[in-house]
Amino acid sequence: MPNPAITHIDARRLAQKRLPRLVFDYIDGAAGQETAALGNTNDLGLLKLSPRVLADLQPPDLGTSFLGKLYAQPFGIAPMGMCNLAWPGADRALASVAQKTTLPLGVSTAASTPMSQMFKDSGGQAWFQLYVSGSAQAGLAMAQRAAQVGYDTLVLTVDVPKVAPRPRDVRNGFQMPFRMGPRQFLDFALHPRWSLATLWAGAPSPANFDPHQGGFDRHASRAGANWAFLDQLRGQWRGKLIVKGVMHPDDAQRIAGMGVDAIYVSNHGGRQLDAAPSAISALHQIRQRLGPLFPLVFDSGVRTGEDIVKALACGADLVMLGRPVLYALAAGGEVGLQQWVTSMREELEVVLSQLGLSRIQDVGPQNLASIPFAQR
Ligand SMILES: Cc1cc2nc3c(=O)[nH]c(=O)nc-3n(C[C@H](O)[C@H](O)[C@H](O)COP(=O)(O)O)c2cc1C
Repeated sequence: MPNPAITHIDARRLAQKRLPRLVFDYIDGAAGQETAALGNTNDLGLLKLSPRVLADLQPPDLGTSFLGKLYAQPFGIAPMGMCNLAWPGADRALASVAQKTTLPLGVSTAASTPMSQMFKDSGGQAWFQLYVSGSAQAGLAMAQRAAQVGYDTLVLTVDVPKVAPRPRDVRNGFQMPFRMGPRQFLDFALHPRWSLATLWAGAPSPANFDPHQGGFDRHASRAGANWAFLDQLRGQWRGKLIVKGVMHPDDAQRIAGMGVDAIYVSNHGGRQLDAAPSAISALHQIRQRLGPLFPLVFDSGVRTGEDIVKALACGADLVMLGRPVLYALAAGGEVGLQQWVTSMREELEVVLSQLGLSRIQDVGPQNLASIPFAQR
């Protein structure tokens, strides 16, 4: 990734070239016909921001406080499993960049690096993301381990009661550990650089499960995350608790009433329900329902600095990005990721100035030129 001004489009193109097809498709793909994934980016594209002129601009300030912490910019990295497929050692590169740039990093239950290592490398910037794929007891025990490691923010993901089949993965025979048929062999052989580097580093596998107790089954139901579990978890978890994957205002209202600290509006990047509305439209509706103060995190479809500002204007307090982060890693490892963060920051500063603002904190609904979403 030679040019710091590289966009997510260039990074995605490089990722597509460098990764075996089945790995690229695992990252890039979505549920069903990929309508929801497309809807996320399309609806963000439809939103317009109002340029304002003649403002008395001060040096740009991207500092964002969220749940009592100050981050250097209004965006972070969404929790993603098996990031090490994008680049050997990707997990640790994510943690290192999170530390250097003071941004929140979601560490997935399915991460290929121990949660303790990730917490340490991130300088405490990491949040732990919890899937409840076994019993409630096992889920609570994992949360307790995260607390013992030092995590003070837990993200409970609730939108994967069953893992949705993703047609590209089915077509490519994507499985972990890899199943090596002739098709996969050819795919790896055509990407020798990736294959050798990944073999050398050791093919990624979930690092936060005891293999003697069955390890992590990607396809197992994660429906253990139900209302009763959330109640128990809130009783046990003393740190900040965020519930991820919320799309309906009624769910948001009930969750907010249960004493959670923040709601994370997301349709999992369109990877679960192909008929889901766009996440940005859900964000707008949930903000309307919960009022201006309840803390909201947002992801799904965010690609640019303008998208981040649009999400903030629709009511997000903090915006997370998923696939673009893995494209940047695949394109250039830790250096590529760092360049991507820098270019997002630069773009945010330009957008702010176009809106006549100096502080990202001042972005609000007044900066939207239109709101094309229906009320629910
Ligand atoms: C490769 C990949 C793996 C993911 N793994 C997880 C995960 O382990 N836990 C989770 O809560 N969300 C997971 N997600 C969803 C992301 O956290 C996030 O919601 C989504 O990627 C945001 O959409 P975007 O990719 O359009 O930015 C994953 C997404 C991708 C692309």
